[in-house]
Amino acid sequence: MKKTNNYFVVDPWKIIETKFDKNRVKYSESIFSIGNGYMGQRANFEEDYTGDTFQGSYIGGVYYPDKTKVGWWKIGYPEYFAKVLNAPNWIGVSIKVNEESLDLNKCKVKNFQRELDMQKGVYKRKVQLILKNGIELSVEVTRFISLNENSLGAIEYKILAINNDCQILIEPYIDSDIINEDSNWDDSFWEIKSLKKTKLFSAIISKTNKTNFEVCTYMANKLFYEKKAVDPLPINIKSKSKISQSFKINIKKGKILTLNKIGGYIKAKENISKNLIDQAKEIVDKYLKFDFDDLLKIQINSWKKIWDVSDVKIDGDVNAQQAIRFNIFHLNQTYSGKDPELNIGPKGFTGEKYGGSTYWDTEAFCLPFYMLTKKQSVSKNLLKYRYFQLDKAIENAKKLGFDKGAALFPMVTMNGEECHNEWEITFEEIHRNGAIAYAIYNYVRFTNDFNYINEMGIEVLIAISRFWAQRFSFSNDKNKYVILGVTGPNEYENNVNNNWYTNYIARWCLIFTKKQIIKIQNFYPNDFSRIAKKTNWNLNEFNLWDKIIKNTYLPYSNEKEVFLQQDGFLDKELIKANKLKLTDRPINQNWSWDRILRSVFIKQADVLQGFYFFSEDFSLDELKKNYEFYEPFTLHESSLSPSIHSILASRLGLIDNAYHLYLQTSRLDLDDYNQELDEGLHITSMAGTWLAIIEGFAGMKINDDTIHFKNNLPDKWKSLSFKIYVRGSLLQINLSKIHNNYIWEDKSTVKIIIKGK
Ligand code: BGC
Repeated sequence: MKKTNNYFVVDPWKIIETKFDKNRVKYSESIFSIGNGYMGQRANFEEDYTGDTFQGSYIGGVYYPDKTKVGWWKIGYPEYFAKVLNAPNWIGVSIKVNEESLDLNKCKVKNFQRELDMQKGVYKRKVQLILKNGIELSVEVTRFISLNENSLGAIEYKILAINNDCQILIEPYIDSDIINEDSNWDDSFWEIKSLKKTKLFSAIISKTNKTNFEVCTYMANKLFYEKKAVDPLPINIKSKSKISQSFKINIKKGKILTLNKIGGYIKAKENISKNLIDQAKEIVDKYLKFDFDDLLKIQINSWKKIWDVSDVKIDGDVNAQQAIRFNIFHLNQTYSGKDPELNIGPKGFTGEKYGGSTYWDTEAFCLPFYMLTKKQSVSKNLLKYRYFQLDKAIENAKKLGFDKGAALFPMVTMNGEECHNEWEITFEEIHRNGAIAYAIYNYVRFTNDFNYINEMGIEVLIAISRFWAQRFSFSNDKNKYVILGVTGPNEYENNVNNNWYTNYIARWCLIFTKKQIIKIQNFYPNDFSRIAKKTNWNLNEFNLWDKIIKNTYLPYSNEKEVFLQQDGFLDKELIKANKLKLTDRPINQNWSWDRILRSVFIKQADVLQGFYFFSEDFSLDELKKNYEFYEPFTLHESSLSPSIHSILASRLGLIDNAYHLYLQTSRLDLDDYNQELDEGLHITSMAGTWLAIIEGFAGMKINDDTIHFKNNLPDKWKSLSFKIYVRGSLLQINLSKIHNNYIWEDKSTVKIIIKGK
């Protein structure tokens, strides 16, 4: 596969780009994206740029319901696809030097360097350039989005005149005339309500069409010439959508001009009555007086607190070290866990593809990262997000013909409504329901917070189990309960019968939910009455559940001794992935869909996803047989694939294989394995990368009140250390070839088992 290996400098804490390549601007805009869980943006240049670029700045939870566009309408399709909305631009700074526009596409770039300092949470760019008029400048920009203050971003923009005196017109602006690259009908997503300027700051209030999210985009600026403040020209309303503030100044050769700009978004919230302009004013009053360096110190300190808990240190392999920090950095930029209405989109704040924000990725991949590196409230918020959307999931199932409180959570959503519109996924990729139940189980086994099940989780579990009980049907031929017409996690198969993973997780949901109901009934009778009333629960429902549990059809091949991905899987030509021509890959970009469907090739873990989730249910020998059978057919063309395979390979002691897959998942974007970096980063799969280390190379598992580890370090790694929260206590793990240390930072009652002892 073609990779852009080694483009970025390998460094333990930084991502560094040293070339200016106009064809790669969009790629690097993705890599250097910054955010704080509330807002985020691609690394677009501040100054005007006429070359190829993908302008993107996003606000968590702000979306537009873009009317569905499909070839042939099918009953049950959602009316709209929720698009993460490109928000107004607050970073813009237009610059004219002796009346010529500073535009990297038009001038000669002598030196160029970008750097993302992940330790400090800061993005920097240095450029040395010559304009057509002969003026040579050096530009140095530092930018960050505050972890401390949701609505605050800050830029320091420095210009040094290298070869001549010159006149500079510098014009920071905010602009609300914004489009989404992926708009279906070229609708306008925003309506501009008002533009406001005061001496100190300017702001644009805009509202999203249809969804009515009200947002204030604001900015305030200070300019210094050699550290002396420069008076601005009056703030100027440039157009219906744009406000700028200009400064005009002659600068001498060798002297420096410094612009400090702060800005960002304030989203109206029901619980805050203060108007948006007053809120913007408050932020400007508070932060404009800070020196940029002081703001920076606060930022560095906030990131230090994150790294103190969530850093993973790898000694002996800088490639791997840089990659894991890159993944951890972006996960923290995407979701802070402060707000149960927000979630983790596959592209986070780095692009628009996938629309929506929430996929099964959150429960299946992301939850463990936030659960083990943050306080409990963070992962609980991820669970609450689904709980608050339960009514919509019940409505969604109703639309598809299910009843009596059965819920089907959406494949993709912003507010609980389904917005995916391909029948084979919307109606058939129902295994997602299982992951949502699994996340509740996973959360409780790690945190011991059974109260969550009592208070909220049980309602979700009952509704999901009711869905499964109705979705199974009885096959007289097989004398078993079957699930027909589904798409498993491997999306390269559609409308198959008896996808083993789906059948297995559906059955598991019934077993797990039943256990929880009985526990609540026995130990929390008051809660039981409340829940039974609210959910209309009737103990007779267990009759059908029990029959299904005893008689679920789980396809198996006696000859191969493996579970079958689905009925008829062995009818396929069993050609291994390494026999495919490189020019055919990725097959989803090169093959017709019917060819993909007929082939044996697997997009991502499917049977093996079940082995990952339910490892206690299977022996190592069973895992080995299934891994050896399925992995060779797997193309890993979903970003979610290599991490699960890496973990399983570690469990099997195939450490070289696990290591190779680890590099593929952790450097997926840095090395652009899937050739789509320009569209944004693969944020949700980054959590899988973290799992590949914690559950793979450190062999971490939790069962009952015991946490297990197994040192599976790759040969190259001299040592590995990290911390995780287990039941509220922080555990420090240091592994090397010669020692394994496990240190509780606080008291804990959890037992640690190492290599079975
Ligand atoms: C994968 C899905 C995933 C989605 C978003 C698809 O390519 O097949 O499993 O939920 O991407 O990450």
